[in-house]
Amino acid sequence: MEPASRIDEAIAALRRGEAIGLPTETVYGLAGDARDPDAVRRIFELKGRPADHPLIVHLAEAHWLERWARDVPTAAVVLADEFWPGPLTLILKRQPDVLDAVTGGQDTVGLRVPSHPLAREVLSRYGRALAAPSANRYGRVSPTAAQHVRDEFGDAVPIVLDGGDCAVGIESTIVDVSGDTPRILRPGRITRAELEAAIGTIESGAVAASPRSAGSHAAHYAPSTPIELVASDAFANRLASHRDAGRRVAALSRAPQPGAVEGIVAGTTPDDYAHALYGALRALDALAVERIVIEAPPNTPDWAAVRDRLMRAAVGAPLDGPGT
Ligand code: TXA
Ligand code: MG
Repeated sequence: MEPASRIDEAIAALRRGEAIGLPTETVYGLAGDARDPDAVRRIFELKGRPADHPLIVHLAEAHWLERWARDVPTAAVVLADEFWPGPLTLILKRQPDVLDAVTGGQDTVGLRVPSHPLAREVLSRYGRALAAPSANRYGRVSPTAAQHVRDEFGDAVPIVLDGGDCAVGIESTIVDVSGDTPRILRPGRITRAELEAAIGTIESGAVAASPRSAGSHAAHYAPSTPIELVASDAFANRLASHRDAGRRVAALSRAPQPGAVEGIVAGTTPDDYAHALYGALRALDALAVERIVIEAPPNTPDWAAVRDRLMRAAVGAPLDGPGT
């Protein structure tokens, strides 16, 4: 973890309107003061992100929510109570003074209380909310280690706090509670079943596809190497046929694979797999192979978040896993 002096430097940078690399339990964020228009502009500039894409506002404590959201429904209070601090973002009607740049001009704002101790320490010592998208350039793989952020931005982001590997490894679950019925906009570590246990049935088929909602752009999480997502029962054969054709490919699988292909075993449970996923995609991308061949996880609710990220990563490449 970081020494106190490093945290002081980070806070001084935030006061100057700069953006810093901040670890959270999901992925690293590129964080700046959510009330400072210059800081927010800087975040968009660094990421190369379209201006109408809203940012998530990170709070130290759940009760800060009142300064950011209005007409907060009971479902939101229950979810915040149950899952904050933690990997859940709530979309709520915004207070009028929230910067348009943060909300993408929408009438709603995304809020979350992260659980990573370093994020919490920075937020509570700084005493103000931080707008933080994932600390990657627009459309690239989210960072799950401080080094990923340094690789992504170099000297342009001089302060990257090192909080180790992100425990969750994929971005927060996003639930829109601004309308009449809650909707899941982005699946994550907190599953539909867990959400429903807290607030009752969430409309099914409700993963939204509005242009401004989470990760709805093609190739949102893609490495530069083409990706093939292959059903589990066809996986070994596909690797063999690539090998026979003399193609240099790398594999990402759930369990060790027989056969001599470079690869990474991401894990047999959804949580282990999510934890390993982005680091694995970065490492496989760096091999500069012709393709990354990925064994599609089962089409079951517990794998929804991992499958969502894999599908996005595979956009533009043959995609023949189940459920496509
Ligand atoms: O786990 C996470 O959520 C990480 C860490 C750093 O907290 N952050 C993250 O931020 O993934 P970002 O900006 O990469 O993704 C946030 C997503 C975007 O796709 C954005 O469109 C959506 O949240 N979002 C934010 N505010 C929204 C709003 N008011 N309505 C709909 N979607 C919103
Ligand atoms: Mg992102």
